[in-house]
Amino acid sequence: MMNMVTRLFARSEPVLSEAGPRDSATIAAVHAASFQRGWSEDELERLLTDRSVIAHRVTAGRTLTGFILSRMAAGEAEILSVAVAPSRRGKGLARALLNHHLRRLAGLGTHAVFLEVDKDNAPALNLYRRSGFREVGQRPGYYQHDKKGAVAALVLRRDLT
Ligand SMILES: CC(C)(COP(=O)(O)OP(=O)(O)OC[C@H]1O[C@@H](n2cnc3c(N)ncnc32)[C@H](O)[C@@H]1OP(=O)(O)O)[C@@H](O)C(=O)NCCC(=O)NCCS
Repeated sequence: MMNMVTRLFARSEPVLSEAGPRDSATIAAVHAASFQRGWSEDELERLLTDRSVIAHRVTAGRTLTGFILSRMAAGEAEILSVAVAPSRRGKGLARALLNHHLRRLAGLGTHAVFLEVDKDNAPALNLYRRSGFREVGQRPGYYQHDKKGAVAALVLRRDLT
């Protein structure tokens, strides 16, 4: 009985792994729940089959609860998107995903990682700043929100050693 209980809990522990084209539909669903403009399943499938793109997912049992994806070029990478399903936020999943992803990027020879983030997106900014990203630029009016109008993007950078 104890073994069965232990196995049940172990099964729902978050697991980090590489994501691929077969995850397009579930990643599209998490993306749509997280951003004003979602990415279609087709767009995601194209990205996830692109050899310059690397993606990781976090799963609990059979449920994909978060993802991160980057495009790599010439020793640098740009994080294109990261999101955790709304009901699973605040449990350290994005931090775990980001750490895992950065370790993998470093292992693939990436020495600098960039990203753009809405200057009003406090959860994302905290996540990146606590992970060692620093602001290196701004793009005024980069994001267009239905209610707030145009909002600047901050460009962040982290060097990987
Ligand atoms: C940003 C996001 C990925 C964080 O996911 P998460 O799994 O809830 O984050 P974690 O629990 O791993 O928290 C990691 C850090 O992020 C920051 N953070 C997370 N949620 C936060 C919140 N609601 N308010 C302020 N900071 C927050 C904290 O610094 C936290 O570390 P701490 O708890 O040690 O302070 C999630 O809110 C999300 O999917 N948002 C919508 C999509 C998005 O905006 N993506 C980023 C685009 S650039």
